[in-house]
Amino acid sequence: MLLAAENLHKTYRLGRVNVPVLRGASIGVEAGEWVGVLGSSGSGKSTLLHLLGGLDRPDATRTRPAGVVRYQGRSLAEMSPRDLDRHRALAVGFVFQFYHLLPELNVLENVLSPAMVARGRLGYLRSRGELRRQAEGLLTELGLAHRLRHRSAELSGGERQRVAIARALINRPRLLLADEPTGNLDQMTGDGVLESIARLRAERGLTVVMVTHDARVAARADRVVSIRDGRVEAAGPGSESAA
Ligand SMILES: Nc1ncnc2c1ncn2[C@@H]1O[C@H](COP(=O)(O)OP(=O)(O)O)[C@@H](O)[C@H]1O
Ligand SMILES: [Mg+2]
Repeated sequence: MLLAAENLHKTYRLGRVNVPVLRGASIGVEAGEWVGVLGSSGSGKSTLLHLLGGLDRPDATRTRPAGVVRYQGRSLAEMSPRDLDRHRALAVGFVFQFYHLLPELNVLENVLSPAMVARGRLGYLRSRGELRRQAEGLLTELGLAHRLRHRSAELSGGERQRVAIARALINRPRLLLADEPTGNLDQMTGDGVLESIARLRAERGLTVVMVTHDARVAARADRVVSIRDGRVEAAGPGSESAA
C-alpha cells in the first residue's frame, strides 16, 4: 500500500458552529493504482485530498490525532516539519480545479517553480539546464511546446490544466492528487485532460487519487469509491455505468 488513511476526522469551526466534514474516513491506495473518489459538492472531497497530501491535518485531541495518513508506511503526523515539507514537495503532485497558476510567470516558469522550491535557489541554478529540458519535455508531451513563453491569461482552460499537470510532475512524485481536474472544463476538453493523466500515469508508474462530483469522470479510474456522510465507501451501483 503506497497510501493509507485510517479513521480520519475533520471538523471545521465557523465561529461557534462545528461543521463535521470527515467522520471516520479511511482509504487505501496501492502503488500504481488510479482511484476515483466520487462525492457531491460539500461532501469533503477537497478536505480528504488535503489530508492525504499533508496540506492539512486531521482533528486532534491533546493526546492524539483523530486519524492517521501513512505514505509508504510512514505516518505524516510523525514527520518533522522539514520532512513533511520535503514529502509535499517531492512525493506528491497536486492538480486543482482552478489550476492555481501564477499569472506573472510564463508557462515554463510555472512548471519549474516547484523544482525551485524543492531545491532552493542554488540547487536549482546548478541543475537549471537539465530541469528546463525536463519541463520542456513534459510540456511538449502535453501538446504545449508552442506555449512555453505564454502567460496563463493567454491560455485556454484545457491548456492551463495541462500546464498545472506538468507543474505537478516536474519533481517526479510517485503520487498525483487531483481535485476535480476537469471540473471547470467542457466535456471534450476534460476528456483530453484525463487522457493526459492516463498517459503520464502509465509512463511514470504514477499512483493517482482523483476526486470529482462527476460519475463519468470518476469512472476513468481503475476503482471508484464514494464519500458520503464523512466516510469513504465502495461506490454504489450505477457509478461505473458511464465507463
Ligand atoms: N476552511 C474551511 N472552514 C470552514 N468550512 C469549510 C472549510 N473548508 C471547507 N469547509 C466546509 O466543509 C465542507 C466540505 O468542504 P470540501 O472538502 O471543500 O467539499 P467538496 O470538495 O466535496 O466540495 C463544506 O460544507 C465546506 O463549506
Ligand atoms: Mg472541492
